Amino acid sequence: MLIKNEVAQIVAIPTEIWPNYGDFDDEIRWYIYRGFDINVAVEDGQVIGFVMYRRFGEGGNIGWLAVKEDYRGRGIGTALLKAAEETMLTEGAKFFFVDSDSQSNWQFYVRRGYEKIANIYLPDEGNTQLFVKWVGERNPEKLARVMRPWLTTVYESIDEEIIRDVEERILSKQI
Ligand SMILES: CC(C)(COP(=O)(O)OP(=O)(O)OC[C@H]1O[C@@H](n2cnc3c(N)ncnc32)[C@H](O)[C@@H]1OP(=O)(O)O)[C@@H](O)C(=O)NCCC(=O)NCCS
Repeated sequence: MLIKNEVAQIVAIPTEIWPNYGDFDDEIRWYIYRGFDINVAVEDGQVIGFVMYRRFGEGGNIGWLAVKEDYRGRGIGTALLKAAEETMLTEGAKFFFVDSDSQSNWQFYVRRGYEKIANIYLPDEGNTQLFVKWVGERNPEKLARVMRPWLTTVYESIDEEIIRDVEERILSKQI
């Protein structure tokens, strides 16, 4: 397996996983325009998975991780996640965070050192769970500080009330 920067071929992956969604071209570009890096996994010349990630303040965000169904369960998702974490660690990230609305992915992150830290309710999109993995010392204040830049980048029309609620949930958690 080879992990390298590549953009053009990745649109086919979410299209295969979620065939009823429509066109993912704009979705992928949306992440790129907002500064997310992409790593892809390639096998036999074919892109079979990708991860999008970027730094927010002292944190590192996993924006999107997906592997083609036929290639799952072989460690590709873990390798993509690890490569993104290592890059962001080199750049100084003190923690990694990811949100996922898909319950089937939650255990994947928990088994890789992430812990559920807050539920985020988005009126148009429903609930998504925020997970964090600390690199060293646990520091909810640092995580709370990146919530505003992250939430307003990823969920552009998010209400101020929701941002404050997420910040408070993180700060009030006994960890
Ligand atoms: C989450 C995801 C990226 C994991 O990719 P992957 O290449 O299967 O990851 P791995 O092989 O490293 O690990 C998968 C885990 O599922 C298990 N598994 C085994 N067979 C599997 C299969 N056929 N399909 C899925 N998972 C399988 C693995 O044993 C492993 O378990 P573990 O957590 O106990 O180690 C992949 O399932 C996926 O693309 N999901 C849909 C995309 C999505 O919703 N992404 C949003 C998240 S931001």
